[in-house]
Amino acid sequence: MHRLIISLSIIFLLAGCGGVKEDKPLVFAVGGAPSEINFWEALIDEFSTEYQIDVSIVRQPTDTDQRRQGLVVSLKARDDDPDVFLMDVAWLAQIAASGWLAPLNTELDSIETEAFFENILDLADRYDGQLMAMPVYVDGGVLYYRNDLLENIGISRPPQTWKELIEFSLRVQAVERENNPDFYGFVWQGAQYEGLICNFLEFAVSNEGGFIFEGDSLRLNIPENVEALQLMHDIIHEYKISPPNTYTEFKEEEVRLFFQNGNALFERNWPYAWTLHQSSGSPVADKIGIDVLPHFEGGESISTLGGWHIGISAYSDMKEEARRFVEYVSSYETQKKLALNLGWNPGRRDVYDDQEVLEKLPHFADLKTVFENAHPRPTRPYYSQMSSILQKHLNSAVAGEVSPENALQSAQAEIQDIIGRYR
Ligand code: GLC
Repeated sequence: MHRLIISLSIIFLLAGCGGVKEDKPLVFAVGGAPSEINFWEALIDEFSTEYQIDVSIVRQPTDTDQRRQGLVVSLKARDDDPDVFLMDVAWLAQIAASGWLAPLNTELDSIETEAFFENILDLADRYDGQLMAMPVYVDGGVLYYRNDLLENIGISRPPQTWKELIEFSLRVQAVERENNPDFYGFVWQGAQYEGLICNFLEFAVSNEGGFIFEGDSLRLNIPENVEALQLMHDIIHEYKISPPNTYTEFKEEEVRLFFQNGNALFERNWPYAWTLHQSSGSPVADKIGIDVLPHFEGGESISTLGGWHIGISAYSDMKEEARRFVEYVSSYETQKKLALNLGWNPGRRDVYDDQEVLEKLPHFADLKTVFENAHPRPTRPYYSQMSSILQKHLNSAVAGEVSPENALQSAQAEIQDIIGRYR
């Protein structure tokens, strides 16, 4: 009996001292295009071999809103998993303000931030003076175009204005539809989700005087924005250069595949699409170019600032291991691998001067100003609420259910109400 009690005590002691924890992997939640998650799988294997820390991946969807909802469920329940995850710059503030992130720097340990874009760290990653996340990559909307199809109609450059984009689209559509009735001029993200806000912002701010957010203030219902939203509607319903299911189905991957399968002349997407379009077996490989988005006459091209940041759950029981992982993801080598393999614009500044990176991704140098001047969405803890109101009204206008003016008026009133409540 005496011996049994001793053995049992040893077993309990071992469990209490981390015997159980040792078997438990570090849980990393990450979403995105399926090819991106596959690449993370390869990276965590390298990390595990180097640091002797097992990692398991929770595969999240591609849609940013769904990714946020998935994390919020675990965080609200104070689950110890996932330990570490990626967050969209759009909703990072909500996660930080809710107290769901563990500070990255401790008394014993601090993460090197010098090589990173200071303005991005300030905008997104520091909260109450503490470093809560690190930028993994920076996104900005860009225009992809088919060189070969433009050449067929005697054009040797991408469109500068939205008007030109419509004109080139109509001309190429007329030719291509003879063999491919499903061919369209322009594909973009019009479904009711965060991506629609990013697209709207690019139309609106590329119209001189067009504007939506400045800090907490909101200028939605102004003529320039109405004109921008009207154009988004007309591209589908009047000019018919975008597919009719743009506002029901088109998110990043639907748009990318449509263009990649050779069914569109122009595509609005994020930089990740480049390496996939250029991969072997892609029907559009070596036929495409990448450029800044068009603008209204008299306006300027702009991109919405996007991007994903890595942080550690406040409820993680493996914070030390998670810190090693954040350091690994933020290192020069890993950031370079993510750029070369996924075409992501690194959060680190120094990778942009890397010869190998510049050779494979020459547009990093050409489009530098696009990313430097990208237009942020408000980093407010209640941004997701503002966004879902705006998504609903923008989508109704793009679908042709309400006029752009009424949509913006209603959105302005409802969002003002949210802002008022938080003040
Ligand atoms: C990309 C961007 C992100 C944005 C999302 C919208 O993932 O990086 O910031 O919110 O697209 O769909």
